[in-house]
Amino acid sequence: MEVKIDDATTDDLPAIAAILNEAIETTTAVWYDELRTQDWMDAWFELKRLKGWPVLVARFDGRVVGYASYGEFRPHAGYRDTMEHSVYVDTSVRGTGIGRKLLAALIERARTNSVHVLVGGIADENTASISLHRALGFEEVARMPEVGQKFGRWLTLIFMQMVL
Ligand SMILES: CC(C)(COP(=O)(O)OP(=O)(O)OC[C@H]1O[C@@H](n2cnc3c(N)ncnc32)[C@H](O)[C@@H]1OP(=O)(O)O)[C@@H](O)C(=O)NCCC(=O)NCCS
Repeated sequence: MEVKIDDATTDDLPAIAAILNEAIETTTAVWYDELRTQDWMDAWFELKRLKGWPVLVARFDGRVVGYASYGEFRPHAGYRDTMEHSVYVDTSVRGTGIGRKLLAALIERARTNSVHVLVGGIADENTASISLHRALGFEEVARMPEVGQKFGRWLTLIFMQMVL
């Protein structure tokens, strides 16, 4: 399976939105309900560009099948070298190594950009994401029982981090 990791362009935004919106509608990977519009994606991508935060995409067979990015962890100067990241893979190709490739590439980019810590906020029921992060060297550093909710049930958040 020939998968290429690239920096995203504006042409990739509809595909990124489709992957994200599927996760919003059907999973507890994200804890909001509003689907992302093209305008929202444009503003998101422009902020990433202005801040120098990467948006990486995985391309396979001529289409975008996943993406990964990071951005501010908390909006205070003291946290400036810590980034919170996310990684999403299209349902059709999950379990084929793309999430691992994307996250590994994002870690490398973070190192290049002198990020000191990467943090992932993950629902404790998201075993795929937890395993992926553990496989790449992240460790669980916090667990916050029932701090969120979706689909009518309480959700527990864990933070996994890697000091780069
Ligand atoms: C989490 C996610 C990004 C993983 O991507 P993926 O491409 O399916 O994962 P990979 O095939 O690269 O697997 C890499 C490792 O992750 C773990 N993993 C992946 N899927 C798993 C599953 N369903 N159950 C358990 N572990 C799993 C394994 O450790 C795997 O390593 P291995 O293949 O050597 O066993 C993907 O499932 C996804 O997009 N989920 C919905 C969105 C989401 O949860 N994003 C993360 C938000 S915190």
